[in-house]
Amino acid sequence: MSRGTYAANVNENDGCDGCALVPRREFLRDAGAIAVGILVALGASPARAAAAPLEAITSIGGSRDDKPYPIPAKDGSQIDKENGVIVTRWQGMVYAFSLACPHQNTAIKWFDKDGQFECPKHHSRFQPDGLYVKDSGRATRGLDRFAVRKDGNNLMVNLDKLYQEDDDETEWKAAVVTV
Ligand code: FES
Repeated sequence: MSRGTYAANVNENDGCDGCALVPRREFLRDAGAIAVGILVALGASPARAAAAPLEAITSIGGSRDDKPYPIPAKDGSQIDKENGVIVTRWQGMVYAFSLACPHQNTAIKWFDKDGQFECPKHHSRFQPDGLYVKDSGRATRGLDRFAVRKDGNNLMVNLDKLYQEDDDETEWKAAVVTV
């Protein structure tokens, strides 16, 4: 595959390309812990293994329910691997998605050229706002979104509130800030 991509890993040597996320998430509606870990690499194709990495970001300071991330300066996606968060800016909107595919928790990738996410396991695709691309792969909903708010130049992410489109549709739709 020749298209330029951002992969959902920092680099191809750190064992995260196409890897499964340990499903330690607990979907507690108002509070609770969501822990996502990345385990072993699972046989990505050479083309995918050569994909350009997502830009890595780290949240400094804040609390688990109010983590600050700098709002990206341009459209694209960045990853906080430690917390399993992807911050995406797209056409005036900013989102914080779970890195885990909503089907079976595989780490998703961002394809910059196509402006889409794709799961390397069953190839579900997702628009930049997280909406599921119909009839792709095996997912049945969009990417899960963390609750967010804007504070100056930061996106504040609540890691204890993760919304599923098919379960918390109103909150899921509201989990976005404009820039
Ligand atoms: S794990 Fe992503 S589509 Fe199946």
